[in-house]
Amino acid sequence: MKTTKTLLAAIALGTSLVLGTTAAVAAGKQHNAEDISFSFEGVFGHFDRAQLQRGYLVYKQVCAACHSMSLMSYRNLGERGGPELSEAEVKALAAEATIQDGPNDEGEMFERPGLPSDRFASPFPNMQAAMAANGGAYPVDLTLITKKREGFHFPWYVSPFIKLVKGNGGPEYVRSVLMGYEDPPADAAKDAPEGKSYNPYFAAGPWISMAPPLSEDAVEYADGTKASVEQMATDVAAFLTWAGEPKMEQRKSMGFQVVLYLALLSLLLFLTKKRVWGREPH
Ligand code: HEC
Repeated sequence: MKTTKTLLAAIALGTSLVLGTTAAVAAGKQHNAEDISFSFEGVFGHFDRAQLQRGYLVYKQVCAACHSMSLMSYRNLGERGGPELSEAEVKALAAEATIQDGPNDEGEMFERPGLPSDRFASPFPNMQAAMAANGGAYPVDLTLITKKREGFHFPWYVSPFIKLVKGNGGPEYVRSVLMGYEDPPADAAKDAPEGKSYNPYFAAGPWISMAPPLSEDAVEYADGTKASVEQMATDVAAFLTWAGEPKMEQRKSMGFQVVLYLALLSLLLFLTKKRVWGREPH
């Protein structure tokens, strides 16, 4: 009884601290990302193929103008557990890209159409060129962005429990940054840095050198989904989550099989123990 009471008191204290800090974070610098339930969350979570395909389209048509995804190959788009494009689609997409290859027999570098085994073509030849084109700010490589950034910020003593339930909020971070452009509050507007936008969800914010990249109907979805800013932000966040962990579905299903196996093994061992020791007098 006493333990139950202590436990309840601890939970109440924890909750009030969390709520208190949410307000504090909201008033301060970086805002907590909006928590939404993606299809890939939870023990049995799966990526939504159609959503990954839409997300790739957004990356390709909008984000790829500035952000590289240097760990991805075109053939990954056709693999199990991802957008699962057909072989012909993957070949056609790769062929749209121009890849620098070489040197040839004369020692010259040359350009050729992409192959499924090529990495995604980068928009800039190097970091300096990328920064020069973006007002001195570097458009980060997006392959691991959902692993690298966290959307939810709580004090260390509650953070592990919240992460256990909600994850690190990486996908939510990307979605919130894309949707989180606001008019700066009056006191901040006074010293607005040149060429930057106000975005309190950005980790190094609130000023960001990326102009709002998404606008209503920026892409045209093949499946007829309306391309609202929220829809595109959610889809591209899902796509980037898959890119950060392409084998997530296999990992989850393997984890489930292992747990099932251990449960059956425990049962069998228990029955064996009863059989062997059952007739022994206590
Ligand atoms: C015109 C170029 C441009 C386009 C297009 C663009 N970005 Fe960016 N992005 C940038 C730059 C530059 C930064 C770095 C901003 C800074 O450091 O202030 C950035 C920053 C970001 C960040 C924050 C990174 C961090 O370190 O936390 C995310 C997330 C992001 N971009 C995602 C996207 C996505 C997704 C798209 C496509 C929908 C996109 N961007 C389109 C230029 C661009």
